[in-house]
Amino acid sequence: MKTKHKELVDLAIQVSKNAYAPYSKFVVGCIIVSEFGNIYSGCNVENVSFGLTNCAERTAVFKGVSEEGDEFRIERVVIYTPTEVPITPCGACRQVLREFGDDFEVISVCRGSEEIRMYINDLLPNSPDIRIKS
Ligand code: THU
Repeated sequence: MKTKHKELVDLAIQVSKNAYAPYSKFVVGCIIVSEFGNIYSGCNVENVSFGLTNCAERTAVFKGVSEEGDEFRIERVVIYTPTEVPITPCGACRQVLREFGDDFEVISVCRGSEEIRMYINDLLPNSPDIRIKS
């Protein structure tokens, strides 16, 4: 059975509470539904060496790959931030998400206004199919 959108949003809100963001105080939660129908959650994990920070989206991707291996493909992404306007994924996350699918929706939900829906192809246009086939 397909998990309902509201349930995914609730899970994204829940995982955002686990964010480790002592420097920015900006918490993010991400839920990824894989094509197998599994659900992976991720939050941002910051570091005193700021560049080592891992975004919520990449945390969820890495969890998915850890569980499903190279068959991991993304069906849908839901992001939550407790902000006035919805965010969009950073460039690094766009590239990492794109590695695992080319036509899925990224839905960003916030506290203060309507959600926004984007396609990965629009977030990272003209990207070649770069997965190396073995
Ligand atoms: N962050 C995410 O986790 N996802 C995004 O899409 C944007 C930014 C995190 C990284 C950092 O911990 C904090 O938000 C502020 O940039």
